[in-house]
Amino acid sequence: MRISGGTTVDLVLIGKALIEGSFLEAAVAIDDGVIVGISKPSLAPNSVSRVEFGEKFLLLPGMVDIHVHMREPGLEYKEDWGSGSRAAVKGGVTMVVDMPNNVPPANNCSVLQEKLQRASARSLVDFAFYAGFNPLVEELERCRGLFVGFKLYPEDLYSPGARNVFSYASRYGLPVVVHAENPSLFRESKLHSDARPPEAEESAVRHALMLSRESNAWLHVTHLSTSGALMSVLEAKVTPGGRVTFDVTPHHCLLSDELYRGEKRGIAVVNPPLRPEGERASIYTSLRNMLPDAIVTDHAPHRVEEKTSEKPSPGFPGLETALHLLFREILEGRLGLEVLELYSRRPARLLGVKKGVLGEGFEGDVVVVSKEEWVVRGEDFESKAKYSPFEGWRLPTKTYAVYIRGEPVYIAGQFMTSKGGRLAVPRG
Ligand code: NCD
Ligand code: ZN
Ligand code: ZN
Repeated sequence: MRISGGTTVDLVLIGKALIEGSFLEAAVAIDDGVIVGISKPSLAPNSVSRVEFGEKFLLLPGMVDIHVHMREPGLEYKEDWGSGSRAAVKGGVTMVVDMPNNVPPANNCSVLQEKLQRASARSLVDFAFYAGFNPLVEELERCRGLFVGFKLYPEDLYSPGARNVFSYASRYGLPVVVHAENPSLFRESKLHSDARPPEAEESAVRHALMLSRESNAWLHVTHLSTSGALMSVLEAKVTPGGRVTFDVTPHHCLLSDELYRGEKRGIAVVNPPLRPEGERASIYTSLRNMLPDAIVTDHAPHRVEEKTSEKPSPGFPGLETALHLLFREILEGRLGLEVLELYSRRPARLLGVKKGVLGEGFEGDVVVVSKEEWVVRGEDFESKAKYSPFEGWRLPTKTYAVYIRGEPVYIAGQFMTSKGGRLAVPRG
């Protein structure tokens, strides 16, 4: 405990809290936005506010989602920082890292500045940004504090400028986050998972690994979805030259391309596609074995008309379901509690932010979950995208309260504020 007897802290939260991997009855003391101590409830310091959560509640660190699309600037009709960050809060997420495929793309300082202004004005959760592909990557030098890595889409990966991005990233130790699919291996097919087959991902992962080795850069493969790509990445982790990390999504772990044969077809369209059952099972097993470095939602909202059209836009919202989908797996005995670290401590550590842990010295982001069953209904989402490939699923837990840096943001179904999120700056 960093505080001495007699001091008064801002806030003490008491309940069954996830501390170092298990649930213990504890008092979490927060002062000036930072956790200053974890103790037995009887030893909690004096505080200005004190909240005790009973039997049916669990206290967790705020979740950290390093792959979301908040759609501002340019595509506010799909989502904006207000609706997207409320979706995050409802999903127990207190920090997001936003993707650069905006209109115009966030691959230069002026769009990143604009994004900072918009997010600062409207986001409830803390945030960071990736910079988009720019072959003249040095142009980003004067706003280096505004992004935590680069994002390359399939076309970017095969363009000559990709090498410049990898070598620039290598100079500063920043990750190059890659959506790995080789467009030259796409083919005509009515079935989305056939049109973008596993080989396209496997091939692009090999290409990205080659680029990262060449420049000794940090490659982060996002939404990895095939066993072949998994094998390449695992092998690269133990091979000198470069550094490689990867994340997986709840949808690639829990859903298969069976959905493309049913009526949720358009809703379920996403890139990389949902995969055949065997691939899904491999990715799920990797998660059970704690092999990924993070879990991400790839929260990718589109208007429902865009999803049910002849050519559905790829992606769907994920922020409001991810944590509670994980609890479903945990409470039904298929995953261990430690999997929650992949959606909190581990991604926070990748970024170098002091979040994702209920522990002294970490930011006071606390999520209180209640053991209460609910049914996923897109129409109830905070996201503007009011549909889900998990529609109708019964989930065993609900977000009850969210505190960010010690401030109450959501309590018992009510948002307490409409802003307050800020740029999360890595501490090296
Ligand atoms: C994403 C989007 O809609 O921005 N769509 C998706 O299917 N995942 C783009 C992306 O992350 O590839
Ligand atoms: Zn992607
Ligand atoms: Zn994405």
